Amino acid sequence: MDMTPYERRLDRPTRIKLPEFQYNGRLKHVLFADQFDRPMLENFNSLSNMVRELSKGRETQLFLHNLLSEKRAMLYFTQASTRTFLSFMAACQLLGMSVAEIRDPSVSSEYKGESPFDSMRMFSSYFDLVVMRTPHAGFAEACAYLMNDLDQFNERNVPVVNGGSGSDEHPTQALLDVYTISHCFEFASERDSSRWTQFGEYRKSYPGLARGLDSKVFGFCGDIRRGRTVHSLASLLANFSDVTMYFVSPPDDDLRLPPTMRESLSARGVKVFEYDTLDDIVDKVDLLYMTRIQWEHDKDNAKRTAPTAVNADFILTPERAERMKSYAPILHPFPRNAEIPPEVDHNPRAMYFRQARNGMWVRAALIAHLFDVDGMIVARHREMSSGYHDYNVGSA
Ligand code: NCD
Repeated sequence: MDMTPYERRLDRPTRIKLPEFQYNGRLKHVLFADQFDRPMLENFNSLSNMVRELSKGRETQLFLHNLLSEKRAMLYFTQASTRTFLSFMAACQLLGMSVAEIRDPSVSSEYKGESPFDSMRMFSSYFDLVVMRTPHAGFAEACAYLMNDLDQFNERNVPVVNGGSGSDEHPTQALLDVYTISHCFEFASERDSSRWTQFGEYRKSYPGLARGLDSKVFGFCGDIRRGRTVHSLASLLANFSDVTMYFVSPPDDDLRLPPTMRESLSARGVKVFEYDTLDDIVDKVDLLYMTRIQWEHDKDNAKRTAPTAVNADFILTPERAERMKSYAPILHPFPRNAEIPPEVDHNPRAMYFRQARNGMWVRAALIAHLFDVDGMIVARHREMSSGYHDYNVGSA
């Protein structure tokens, strides 16, 4: 893909780019995890909770459904996707948006030689939001520059959301991961009462355990170098304090933690360690984030392995899962290959199906933020939780 017109802007340090993806103090485009700081993450966590709670009752569901019913979204996914695509679709539907999709460029005019940037501009003529997934790192960002340039000329332009760009970034997956982790680290249970709490129970075995994401050890296993979900999540988790990260990957430079990532995490105060096998870390981590080997990135065909051929040292067998701390959640962005056998699904630590479902709430919260209707969600939620009665109705 020819990104020459955007190269100069793409090559700048992220910190310099960030203001270009904001508008009036809120996000305009969502491209990288570095756009989120801790207060924003906390805000998105609570907004996502509100969306989840409002989507339970019929009346409050209808409220959500009216929020953006005049808006249309384009899901432009030219790389395989199940969860990201479907949860964005469900999120748009929750907010009443209508949705269109292009998943195969061979059935669009790109087949006739149309440039993907012209396609993008067409989408912005018909739709109000473009969510995109592409095999090309930097393409979503370049599309955001295209939109910003249109804005300069007072032409129609729309927000761009990165739903996964090459082996680069996947910021919305990281947002839902942080939401899931925050939930897990509240250590709450429906069985909690004044006499028994899940947290109290855990503290009997782990007296130093504290709620929240500070002072935790996060373990990542699998394809660290090419796993875009790992890159974005590690960057979001670096917003918390006293964070330690353990990275485990098969012994291959194509899979290992890239030195640039180690440096940028260390520069943000994260204590970074690399290990050779899952056995080295399973019983030490507060959370384990498993990923598959991203074999589709192997240019060297001889190196391409079958998705099922996972090195045994990097498989979370039921026995290894049992050795983990009892409160430590297991996450996986999915799709999985052989690195988590289905027998682990019934382990109470397995959170990956809940994690996938959370994508809906978090993505709806993000879209609500982009269209500036998040304040209405907060107000409606407050009304719902306080059993609102306007005693002044009818008075002078
Ligand atoms: C991931 C992706 O596409 O980056 N999946 C997802 O979005 N939930 C992970 C992967 O493909 O391995």
